[in-house]
Amino acid sequence: MAMGRRAAGRAGVSHPVFARIYPRINASAEAHGGLEHRRELLADATGRIVEVGAGTGANFRHYPPGVERVIAVEPEPRLRELARQAAPDAPVPVEVSRSGRAEELPVPDGSVDGVVASLVLCTIGDVPAALAEAARVLRPGGRLYFYEHIRSADPRFARVQRVLDVVWPLLGGGCHLTRDTERAITDAGFVIERARHFQFLVNGRATPSSPCVIGVARKPAAA
Ligand SMILES: C[S@@+](CC[C@H](N)C(=O)[O-])C[C@H]1O[C@@H](n2cnc3c(N)ncnc32)[C@H](O)[C@@H]1O
Repeated sequence: MAMGRRAAGRAGVSHPVFARIYPRINASAEAHGGLEHRRELLADATGRIVEVGAGTGANFRHYPPGVERVIAVEPEPRLRELARQAAPDAPVPVEVSRSGRAEELPVPDGSVDGVVASLVLCTIGDVPAALAEAARVLRPGGRLYFYEHIRSADPRFARVQRVLDVVWPLLGGGCHLTRDTERAITDAGFVIERARHFQFLVNGRATPSSPCVIGVARKPAAA
């Protein structure tokens, strides 16, 4: 058990050390372009939204006026408290759910227009279950908005990521470097409408989590 990580039951996640340092990690990422990435992710979001793994609520202030309501799910209690504190400053109504995780969303079938996942599909324990759950809560034609760091398309860089992925999750609250997230999204039955790949550089330098994608995927309308 590294960095104090322990399961907190089926509906919870506990990463006390990561929860303490993530606000600083995020502030640094946002200072290097992460803020623009969040705006890009959410620019077209509309209607009723579920945000999975909302962390500190860093996305909340970027929801555009076309968003009616956000239900934010964050299973880590310390991060959830920060999200709760951030919610009143959002330009749209945000409710931070008391329970839930990506694999078990406290939302009825087909009841939302969008699901938002930012920097979270790298961490979720069961990605296929989380994406199936996103598909369950979305209405037909609803959209999954994703901003994720991913496995590099460059085999040499991907090899480095694979080596680092032994210790990375211990330091990063369960975050993995090697996930093929778009493949997981299409495997879950979504149709990717757009995906912008880029290197998220910090001071002009690549980091193990530099390969990133921002995109939108659609749940097909019922036949
Ligand atoms: C790197 S942080 C990203 C937080 C936020 N989405 C952001 O963009 O800053 C990863 C988040 O995933 C959350 N998480 C971990 N396992 C989860 C799960 N099974 N369901 C939902 N969220 C989860 C963590 O608690 C953490 O808040």
